[in-house]
Amino acid sequence: MKIVTIVGARPQFIKAAALSRELRKEHEEILVHTGQHYDSNMSDVFFEEMEIPAPKYNLGVSGGSHAKMTANMLIEIEKVLVEEKPDAVLLYGDTNSTLAGALTAAKLLIPIIHIEAGNRLGTLTNPEEVNRITTDHLSSLLICSTETSKENLDKEGLSERSFVAGNIMYDSFLHFANKEWIPHTLLGLNGEQVEIPENFYYMTCHRQENSGEKELKEIFDAMECLEYPTIYPVHPRNKSRAMNLVNQFNYKKIILLDAVKYSDSVYLVKNAKKVVTDSGGLQCEAFYAKTQCVFVLDYVVWPETLVGNRNQLAKPDKQDILEKLSKEQVIDENYKPFGDGNSAAKICEIIRNFDFRLK
Ligand code: UD1
Repeated sequence: MKIVTIVGARPQFIKAAALSRELRKEHEEILVHTGQHYDSNMSDVFFEEMEIPAPKYNLGVSGGSHAKMTANMLIEIEKVLVEEKPDAVLLYGDTNSTLAGALTAAKLLIPIIHIEAGNRLGTLTNPEEVNRITTDHLSSLLICSTETSKENLDKEGLSERSFVAGNIMYDSFLHFANKEWIPHTLLGLNGEQVEIPENFYYMTCHRQENSGEKELKEIFDAMECLEYPTIYPVHPRNKSRAMNLVNQFNYKKIILLDAVKYSDSVYLVKNAKKVVTDSGGLQCEAFYAKTQCVFVLDYVVWPETLVGNRNQLAKPDKQDILEKLSKEQVIDENYKPFGDGNSAAKICEIIRNFDFRLK
């Protein structure tokens, strides 16, 4: 098959790293980068380090409101699909790049393969939920990371086209987690080299829901109370807000870093005392690394992780975060809801056996 894969945001690069390698063994794949994430440390470093094939097209669309970004992507993606005439379009996750790819392909009657289908937070107040629902209902082939995701699709009448293949991010995680990698210093937000302490908490925060100054300050206030410092690689969205807060309130235990590359993030998640995040991806990586996680959001992205205090929801509230961090986790070694790290091969097998003409 000729498959056009559309990526645009950091977590999609991580997923493409694992699947592209396998997909290209039997299909022609054309990679399209929408441009949603464009900073070198949000995009280029992932392509280099993870050996992701270079995109044939970079559409250069980023920023603006959700509508403006999505609309500009629609126009540019349509040109590519009309030119390439693929047999299918492959999409990952729930970003605006995913939604734009789905709408464009559906209008051109090109079958869609959606990887990481079926996740539901149950509220449209989460900006990604509309992307998940729309993409799933426009897709021909729905590939779920877990049984829970498949059950969500069953409830929406999409059983016949949905399959479980494990979480493709686990493939990437294992690939890097098995390498011995110790970053002795990392780049600070002011361009300085920062020593990585032996004991630390690892925090990330980038979601629209937590990007207000009040929410970020509550999270910082909690982290400042802990016995070890917190390492926080900052998403560009929160850069000036995080720097202002640290300067204004003189936090001593929050270490601000530039966004880190994947291998550094894997090191941090493996070696942190605990993780505090609002990232769907990082909460899973903490689970794989058996590092306890507190997830700062009202809704759960991966309900499978909420067992034995391995992942707990907290509000962006100092006391709530500290209370959740004070608990210990219990690990059942036999519990593996995300598969065995061989999702790429399983996804290829599902694609091979699926009759796209019927859909
Ligand atoms: C997007 C996804 C989110 C995903 C996240 C991963 C949507 C709706 N959301 O959110 O699901 O968890 O990616 O990181 O698609 N910016 C830069 N440089 C960059 C990237 C972004 O300066 O390289 C700026 C943008 O211009 C914008 C802000 O950061 O002002 C937010 O970026 P945007 O792509 O809108 O959403 P994310 O928060 O990254």
